[in-house]
Amino acid sequence: MPTTSKRQSAPRQGAPLDLPLRLDRTAGNQALQVYGGLRGAILDGRLAAGLRLPSTRVLAQQFGVKRNAVVIAYEHLQSDGLADARTGSGTFVATLPAPVRKTKPLPAAPRSIKLPATRPFALGKTYADPQLLRRLAAATRRRIMRTDDAAFGYGDPRGDATLRNEIARYLAASRGFVCDPDCVVIVGGIQHGLRLCIEALLQPGDAVWMEDPGYPVAGRTLTRAGLKVVPVPVDAEGLDVRAGEKRRPAAKAAYVTPSHQFPTGVTMTMARRIALVEWARAAKAWLLEDDYDSEFRYGGPPLTALAGIGGGDRVIYLGTFSKLLGAGLRLAYMVLPPAALEQVIAVREGHDRFPPSFMAGAIADLMADGFLADHIRRMRRRYRAGRDAAVAALERAAGKSLTIVSPQQGLHLLALLPDGLPADAAAAIRAQAGVETWLLSETRLKATGADGFILGFGGHDTAELIAAATALGHAAKRYVDARR
Ligand SMILES: Cc1ncc(COP(=O)(O)O)c(C=O)c1O
Repeated sequence: MPTTSKRQSAPRQGAPLDLPLRLDRTAGNQALQVYGGLRGAILDGRLAAGLRLPSTRVLAQQFGVKRNAVVIAYEHLQSDGLADARTGSGTFVATLPAPVRKTKPLPAAPRSIKLPATRPFALGKTYADPQLLRRLAAATRRRIMRTDDAAFGYGDPRGDATLRNEIARYLAASRGFVCDPDCVVIVGGIQHGLRLCIEALLQPGDAVWMEDPGYPVAGRTLTRAGLKVVPVPVDAEGLDVRAGEKRRPAAKAAYVTPSHQFPTGVTMTMARRIALVEWARAAKAWLLEDDYDSEFRYGGPPLTALAGIGGGDRVIYLGTFSKLLGAGLRLAYMVLPPAALEQVIAVREGHDRFPPSFMAGAIADLMADGFLADHIRRMRRRYRAGRDAAVAALERAAGKSLTIVSPQQGLHLLALLPDGLPADAAAAIRAQAGVETWLLSETRLKATGADGFILGFGGHDTAELIAAATALGHAAKRYVDARR
């Protein structure tokens, strides 16, 4: 019998509903059958160390044997050292020395799956605001306690109606466009929304304009769907519509971030917005408007969304709660032109049917009672302070070796290197500084020019931001000075 010198060191786990075992009915009396089944499963690792075995009553019911047979089987297992009984808490599978295990090791998961960065200047991180957590917990609890029968069935493929109504009101008040809540569709993130639209409205091989530089995650979504990505340059006015018309006038869609171009931070001018909408009308193309961080503006009012300037029938507006509340919610929404709605819903029904409904009501309540607006105001102050601290530290440490572009909106800033450095300069500086940052060159398709760093300042602690900015600034200065 195996020895059990390190018994009970494994964490305790609750009893499974049914043990995944079949008894060998030819293996002697009922007690021996149960003992043999459990022993085999413990030795080959199907029943893991620390697992609480079901009560004798429950197991007797599962196997259709007398309860006393299970009592005897458990006693045998204990005397073998394969299980431990703890008065008042049950019988647990003991920890066995590794060589006893007979199962083949599970195939290892590929190591290539990269986890997102979390240290400064990781993008996409927001502040875990204690007030938000408290309010969200309370609102969720209230909603769950009031949940009716409907929540236990399949829901509207567009998502919870109260949340859609609140989103429509929010967009009218904050983004200047009025939409019908019936055309709002809740999705699990902007990429999810994009994927649904692509599948519903485009064909593999269709050309799609993509801002260059642009948001690489969206670029990958387009490419993986078999679309032909057409890079369109971005200048100080946003996407260059005329350049797009020259390159591919008959593209079927354009993916754009007009409010706060990713990564340059440019706000698309009204003249360009109008030109883009006119092109889309003439080409019968869809405009995929990604409005990912408009709530955090630090100066001046935002320009109206494309969807609000009369492009309503060609524009698919994509908004998200990822910056507003937190990316972990996986909560975003689209406002679809009526002409696209049915097709997108048909596609959704082949994906996830409808979005999760349990949290939706709670978020709607936070919007309705004004908490969301208050949260935005408080976070704006916090993020602005984070931005200013990072900018000041970068300027102090880097001197003239970095040009800082401090944004009027959003949660990332740009730090640009001078022209004429080697192609791997930014990567070398990043490695030297030991910070997490995307490079401008990583967001380019065809565009050229000086490289730089895209620095997320959102949810990071100010002291950490200052330390990371100082490290990056010093590394850039050392590198640039050495080449002067
Ligand atoms: C341009 C852009 N679009 C979309 C997103 C993410 O949206 P979601 O979390 O809803 O997919 C981000 C996140 O940083 C972004 O930078």
